[in-house]
Amino acid sequence: MSQSISLVVNKKTVAVEVDDPNTPLLYVLRGELGFHGPKFGCGLGQCGACTVLVDGEALRSCLMPVSAVVGSSVTTLEGLAEGDGLHPLQQAFIDEQAVQCGYCINGMIMQSAALLHRNPTPSDEQIRQELANNLCKCGTHVRILRAVKRASESLQGGQHV
Ligand code: FES
Repeated sequence: MSQSISLVVNKKTVAVEVDDPNTPLLYVLRGELGFHGPKFGCGLGQCGACTVLVDGEALRSCLMPVSAVVGSSVTTLEGLAEGDGLHPLQQAFIDEQAVQCGYCINGMIMQSAALLHRNPTPSDEQIRQELANNLCKCGTHVRILRAVKRASESLQGGQHV
């Protein structure tokens, strides 16, 4: 029997019907709510493509039961920016042309958003460590690193992350 669960996603309260409260958050975000920023990569918590923010912390939504985020604030790639503009990280990834196939980019941006929230001026090594478990098969790591640095500099210029 299905049950209704209330979630806060991208600052809006939404109700979803689930057959199983252990349904992965990723399935609900993509299948029920139409947020296609988070991607299904491995489904095992190993690639990072499904990363979202839960109360500001980067978590892998493929492993997170939807019932575990009741009462928390979930942010997807779609909800990262304030207003109509792009988030500084989104703009920086475009400016640095850090996207090739694009499949990993949701995870790279969301993981970086959590990092910049904790540490607005990370070193190259800190960025590398933060993104070490986000897999990219295209090999755009150098550009991704530059994009995160650029976003950090935007933050110092007064744009909020
Ligand atoms: Fe969740 Fe790979 S799809 S970590």
